[in-house]
Order: sequence, then C-alpha cells, then structure tokens
Amino acid sequence: MTDAAYLLVHGDREYLLEPGEEFGTDLGVLEIPDDVAGGDEIETHLGTVFEVRELRGPDLFNHLERTGAPMMPRDVGLVMGHTGVSGGDRVLDAGTGTGILSAYLGRAGAEVTTYEVDPEFADVARRNMETAGVADRVEVRTGDLSEELDALADDAEPFDVLTLDTGDAPDIVARAPELLVSGGYLAVYSPFVEGTREAVMAAREAGFEGVDTFETIQREMDYSDRGSRPSTAGVGHTGYLVFARAP
Ligand SMILES: C[S@@+](CC[C@H](N)C(=O)[O-])C[C@H]1O[C@@H](n2cnc3c(N)ncnc32)[C@H](O)[C@@H]1O
Repeated sequence: MTDAAYLLVHGDREYLLEPGEEFGTDLGVLEIPDDVAGGDEIETHLGTVFEVRELRGPDLFNHLERTGAPMMPRDVGLVMGHTGVSGGDRVLDAGTGTGILSAYLGRAGAEVTTYEVDPEFADVARRNMETAGVADRVEVRTGDLSEELDALADDAEPFDVLTLDTGDAPDIVARAPELLVSGGYLAVYSPFVEGTREAVMAAREAGFEGVDTFETIQREMDYSDRGSRPSTAGVGHTGYLVFARAP
C-alpha cells in the first residue's frame, strides 16, 4: 500500500488529513507533520488536542469525496464474504463511483482494475484511492466497461472476481465467462429487484453455477433503560446482491 491519509479525532469531530497538510477548524489550525503516525496527538494553535488514528475501511465510507452512490459497508461485507476475495486476487470492477468497494478490496490486498464512465467521477476516484493508500493496487480507468469487453477478453489475464454496480450489469454478465477464471466469482449489486432478476437470468444463460441472490437488510439494535430491541427507525434495506461462480 502507498501512504494513506490519517483520521484526526476530537470528540465527535473527525477529519481525514494527509501528512504535511495544514487544516483550519473552528478549534484552531491543525498542522500535520510529515512523519505523523497513528497514536500521535496533535494540538491546534488554540490548544485543542486531536488524536491521530490509522485509516480503516469505515472511515473511507464516512469521509471520501462522494460521487456515485457508494456501496455501504454491509454490502461490501457480503461481497467480500461471498466471493472470498483476498490478497493477490485480480478483480475487475465497474462502476468505480466514489470507489468505496474498490478501496476496500485494495486494502484487503487485491489488485483491482475499475472502470468509471464519467471522467470527473474517475478523477475524484483516483484522488480517493490516493487518500485510501491503495493507488498502487487500484487502477481507475476512465471508460464504459461494456465497451471494453472485447479488449479485456482478448488481451487481459482472466480475473478472479468481477464486481458490478451499474445499470447495464446484465449485459456485462452475459460476457463475464470470457473475463473470469473457471471457478471465479461474479458479484452484482442492484438497488432494484428488476435489475437483479435480469442479472440472474443473464448469469444462468451464460452458464454460471450456484447463482444466489440475497437482499441486504440490516437492523440496528437500540438499548434503553426500558429494554433492548431492533431500532424502529426503518427496515434498513439497501439492495440485492447476486453471486455466481464462473463455468
Ligand atoms: C452506484 S455507483 C458505484 C459505487 C461504487 N460501487 C462504490 O462503492 O463507490 C455507479 C457508478 O457506475 C458508473 N457507471 C455506470 N455504468 C457504467 C459502465 N458501463 N462502465 C463504467 N462505469 C459505469 C456511474 O457513472 C456511477 O459512477
């Protein structure tokens, strides 16, 4: 990994800052030394002390600059759990969006090639990969993955995992066996059931095995003096994930 940013914490305030950066807050100016390390304490010029923390995955979700709707940690967890992605795996991803999924995969040790069709989003994602310390493992390519399939199938070494979070995922799934090693995994995220069904049908048609779909619902627990129960704040649906294994 390359040098990542650090999290500066005081109470419920959190700032993601780079070594050498100067940052003004209403509690004073923070000057981050070049040799800053996790566990340090840095005082603003007005005397407020901030704790320095090493960056972790959820900090990326909370603090990276957002463009395309980022994947939530619960969905990232399912992708990692159901594909078993790990150090050294080659992952093909689209669309990059904010780059949350790509950054998590890179921090887990995978070599990620990710496509983003919007050039401005791609620029932001490249900066986000620097901040996350994975610019050497996550290559953000500007382009429409569906237009790169021929070139990738002809020239690229096959990938271990393909992750898709785009509206046109079903079209890409149809070509996915040409991109993946036999036994490699496909993971498709869709916020809607219609796109999910299309992805499942495309995966079956393309000969994928073990095509499974999971809806992601997460219930947060509330604890009060009266008792403990799931939060009444909402159902907590984020979307659907389709997993399948390449023939
Ligand atoms: C929901 S966001 C992806 C979020 C990302 N998974 C994350 O964790 O931050 C979808 C992104 O895909 C991009 N996109 C849509 N279709 C694409 C395609 N065929 N090729 C490349 N990027 C695409 C969009 O511009 C958008 O930024």
